[in-house]
Amino acid sequence: MAFPNNAMLRALFLLVLVCAAHAGGKAKESSSTPAEGGGGSCDGGTCDITKMGATAGGKTDSTKAVQEAWTSACGGTGKQKIMIPKGDFLVGPLNFTGPCKGDVTIQLDGNLLASTDLSQYKANWIEIMRVENLVITGKGTLDGQGPAVWSKNSCAKKYDCKILPNSLVLDFVNNSEVSGITLLNSKFFHMNVFQCKDIVIKDVTVTAPGDSPNTDGIHMGDSSGVSITNTVIGVGDDCISIGPGTTKVNITGVTCGPGHGISIGSLGRYKDEKDVTDITVKDCTLKKSTNGVRIKAYEDAKSVLTASKIHYENIKMEDAANPIIIDMKYCPNKICTASGGSKVTVKDVSFKNITGTSSTPEAVSLLCTDKIPCSGVTMDNVNIEYSGKNNKTMAVCKNAKGSATGCLKELACL
Ligand SMILES: *[C@@H]1O[C@H](CO)[C@@H](O)[C@H](O)[C@H]1NC(C)=O
Ligand SMILES: *[C@@H]1O[C@H](CO)[C@@H](O)[C@H](O)[C@H]1NC(C)=O
Ligand SMILES: *[C@@H]1O[C@H](CO)[C@@H](O)[C@H](O)[C@H]1NC(C)=O
Ligand SMILES: *[C@@H]1O[C@H](CO)[C@@H](O)[C@H](O)[C@H]1NC(C)=O
Ligand SMILES: *[C@@H]1O[C@H](CO)[C@@H](O)[C@H](O)[C@H]1NC(C)=O
Repeated sequence: MAFPNNAMLRALFLLVLVCAAHAGGKAKESSSTPAEGGGGSCDGGTCDITKMGATAGGKTDSTKAVQEAWTSACGGTGKQKIMIPKGDFLVGPLNFTGPCKGDVTIQLDGNLLASTDLSQYKANWIEIMRVENLVITGKGTLDGQGPAVWSKNSCAKKYDCKILPNSLVLDFVNNSEVSGITLLNSKFFHMNVFQCKDIVIKDVTVTAPGDSPNTDGIHMGDSSGVSITNTVIGVGDDCISIGPGTTKVNITGVTCGPGHGISIGSLGRYKDEKDVTDITVKDCTLKKSTNGVRIKAYEDAKSVLTASKIHYENIKMEDAANPIIIDMKYCPNKICTASGGSKVTVKDVSFKNITGTSSTPEAVSLLCTDKIPCSGVTMDNVNIEYSGKNNKTMAVCKNAKGSATGCLKELACL
């Protein structure tokens, strides 16, 4: 598409100024000089990154301009807006730290492309910290440019691997919203929500190939009051993962696939993890994902915690593998150091109106430990059928207690 080249426009603007001055015109420094070099707040509370030196075209590093737009907007009072107009802007790591004086909206109409030079990154790509009342909205894209670096991910082989940059990270952020945007091909997770409160994610699209490593869609941990609605996620790992210390989460109207499903966990990987409670997943579709709805805890869990009050309702499975799975002996790539000593409790989990097809015979797997059985598990109208041939739909239940009503008889293992 032919968007005006911003560098050219700027050059033209300066040329006009210079000509006017030479012609003895009345162009004064103070009249409409662009806010070069940042500092102070932007024009009427709107910081257009192209007026701060950002160059479209996806080739010129615009990190400084975008970082300065943040500094200006965050330092201004009242409503502040950072405008990212249409076009592709190449940027390295961005550090959007608050607290801010006013409320910042990032209007993403264009695309930010993450630098592929890993040496530039300390940790994440776009890191937003200690901010309240932030809005990130628009039809633009945060393109992590992951294909250039995915081969450097060694996490499938090493427990303590080097973590590649996550795309959009919210740390200690309250009462904020991410809407409309697309997150594309992150190097690692697309979104990570950590120690946040009251976050709304809606109408978002998250896209990466099904075989891209650790490209989780939205991960959250130690947060409360997170709602994800009307969002489409197709990635190479969990579409949504809810980590330890997370409470009060609503996930509604989410389509997942490809991906590893909507997961709670992994739980127990680290010491001092907190409980997960009050999670509702409703009106979602899982398409050809390698799991449907899952709760997973490490077989060699390092902390004692409980996952409870988890409710799944109106979920459609379209050839999902393992549509319903509670796995208390999770140990990916056999990297667990010990076995059997589960410390994670799962209780009060309900599955209501879960329908569709499974690509594996085991439509339901409730794999709990004899040490800490899962309790209060209810299945109400769970009707998922194996879509393949030469086998039948089945449920595998170990150490799970609860009740089933209105389910396909092969699945009523409680
Ligand atoms: C981000 O900026 C804040 C203050 O502006 C600073 O304290 C912090 O160390 C920076 N973080 C990174 C990762 O550079
Ligand atoms: C977010 O809320 C928490 C808990 O109420 C509070 O301690 C923290 O200061 C708030 N953070 C910001 C950036 O306002
Ligand atoms: C989740 O949904 C329930 C019921 O509609 C509502 O009461 C609650 O406030 C919602 N929580 C969040 C975090 O959106
Ligand atoms: C069951 O869930 C499906 C969506 O998967 C929905 O269309 C249907 O209306 C639900 N049925 C009931 C009785 O709520
Ligand atoms: C049916 O599926 C189960 C579970 O995956 C497997 O153990 C069994 O061998 C399969 N049977 C046939 C006939 O393929």
